[in-house]
Amino acid sequence: MKKRILTGDRPTGKLHLGHYVGSLQNRVALQDEYECFFIIADLHTLTTKPEKEHIEKLGRNIYDVVLDYLSVGIDPEKSVIFLQSALPETYELNLVLEMMVTLPRLARLPSIKDMARAAQINEETMPFGLIGYPVLQAADILLPRAHLVPVGKDNEAHVEITREIARRFNRLYDEEVFPIPDVMIGDVPTLVGTDGQAKMSKSLDNAIYLSDDAKTVERKVRGMYTDPNRVRADIPGRVEGNPVFIYHDAFNPDVDEVNDLKARYRKGTVGDVEVKRKLARAINNFLDPIRERRAVYAAEPGKVEEILMDGTRRMQEEARATMHRVFSAMGLPGPLLRGAQQRGEPFRLLDV
Ligand code: TRP
Repeated sequence: MKKRILTGDRPTGKLHLGHYVGSLQNRVALQDEYECFFIIADLHTLTTKPEKEHIEKLGRNIYDVVLDYLSVGIDPEKSVIFLQSALPETYELNLVLEMMVTLPRLARLPSIKDMARAAQINEETMPFGLIGYPVLQAADILLPRAHLVPVGKDNEAHVEITREIARRFNRLYDEEVFPIPDVMIGDVPTLVGTDGQAKMSKSLDNAIYLSDDAKTVERKVRGMYTDPNRVRADIPGRVEGNPVFIYHDAFNPDVDEVNDLKARYRKGTVGDVEVKRKLARAINNFLDPIRERRAVYAAEPGKVEEILMDGTRRMQEEARATMHRVFSAMGLPGPLLRGAQQRGEPFRLLDV
């Protein structure tokens, strides 16, 4: 039996190169070794954006993320891509797990404070659901009984909470219902933005998207931030920390070319134009197979949705099996009543 992975994303927009090196690359590579479940965590977007105007954008965003997954090579024949809000079991498990963690443990988390700050939420306006964000994430991870959770550094604490919650549940009901999941942190935690800012992100408007066409990539690379002290091509430049060379290292497989460019850049014998032209070509070469797969999936109307439906159906089976084990371990009356109804058996509240 293969071990299981669960990870995923909130559907907040198209994915970019930072997502690729940070996480997507690992996911594609782990598809054969693990049984993979990839969640589109739309319920998590409600924690900071519950308004109708934001919910209305979810359809488009979910489509874009699933298409990005497929384009980078997540294979729906091997891996399960599913939609969080389609699973009633997620809502059910979330409530059970809420009892397995203390409020101060959640309220102390820097990640929640960061999300609140970004959404201009203060202590007074803090939704209960945003405090509960990591619990909902624990429900995502534990529902398929995952063993491994590949995530960015910012999600590490949430996996740690998931481990505590899983241990607490297993201990309380004296059954090993949940494996204790390990975290796996990607080796390129953050990719710099095209503007030189620490992080590539949609909100900073410094991203190259996996769905950008060749011309757009050329334009964005031409406008990239480099060594600001190098006002002429014959001035020695700085390679270290220079976004253009960070991207060369990440996306240009021609190591000789990269080393040659670096050497000449340091000496002041190469222009930015050449360095950037070669970078744009490397990124476009990298994106070409991604574009080809995207074109295939996008050409067939309804294909992305069909894959999401199939994946969700597959996840539904796992969710039902897990909740059966959860409620059996707990002996909770309601699910026992439901079971009796389904089997057409009498239901007894009192032992006789
Ligand atoms: N919290 C993740 C993010 O930062 C999204 C997410 C929701 C997730 N549920 C998950 C990641 C379960 C890994 C496992 O966008």
